[in-house]
Amino acid sequence: MEIDRRAFIASLGGVAVVGAMDHEARADALEDYAVEGLNAVVAQTQAAVGTFPTVAELDAEIEMRETRRGVGNLFVGRGENVTRLKPMPAKPTLKDFFELRFAPANHVLQSATRALKTGMSEEIILACLLHDTIQSIMKTDHGWWGAQLYEPYVPEKTTFAVRYHQALRFYADSQAGYEYPDLYRRVFGVDYQPPPHIQATYKMVRNHKWYMEPRLVTVNDLYSFDPKAVVSLDPFIDIIGRHFKQPKEGLGNDNSAVAHMWRTIANPDAPL
Ligand SMILES: [Fe+2]
Ligand SMILES: [Fe+2]
Repeated sequence: MEIDRRAFIASLGGVAVVGAMDHEARADALEDYAVEGLNAVVAQTQAAVGTFPTVAELDAEIEMRETRRGVGNLFVGRGENVTRLKPMPAKPTLKDFFELRFAPANHVLQSATRALKTGMSEEIILACLLHDTIQSIMKTDHGWWGAQLYEPYVPEKTTFAVRYHQALRFYADSQAGYEYPDLYRRVFGVDYQPPPHIQATYKMVRNHKWYMEPRLVTVNDLYSFDPKAVVSLDPFIDIIGRHFKQPKEGLGNDNSAVAHMWRTIANPDAPL
């Protein structure tokens, strides 16, 4: 896909902003821009002819890929070699992970910004901010992986919302303002049926008193990329401070049951 250089720079906030970004952040931003641009082009084409791939067609593509579809973003070179990651500080905080490993984190920042603007609870805003960050190391079953990563540090409602947004996104709830996205017809196949564990989870969550927590994550989940959106972690620093129990030893050093997950995100280059 051809990249309109001027539009790309403008989407990031101008030449000065791009100049202040390091190589890694720029590469990530470019990838986001290209992927989303490509998604938009594919979506337009498919909408024009009214077609989406089938499950069988997507299945047939498995052997044409160099990596499996569930692999986390930190482990793939996106058609190029992977880049050197900046070292993490000795006692890394959530903010450090956002800046050094999740960046540009456009999708989750846009989701959290929408939740903030629409006056949602701080637990939901935090859930929106965190909901897909696990995709840096794992995409498969990312709701469960993500909830596990954050469970020791965030309110129970936030964990619940992160874990179950994965299942709810397959089920429309027009009353809540959530329609099944075309993106999933494209990504999973037009005839896709969620597996039994997702169907069972949906049934359970649909009748749970906290149903709206993960539902609101799906409502704030944005499936179309806004290239003009200028997003930052700054509006969320206070919410993180109030609700994220930052371990004093640093994430990955606190001997929690999930410390190894943080260490893997910090150092995906470790061979074993
Ligand atoms: Fe997600
Ligand atoms: Fe998402």
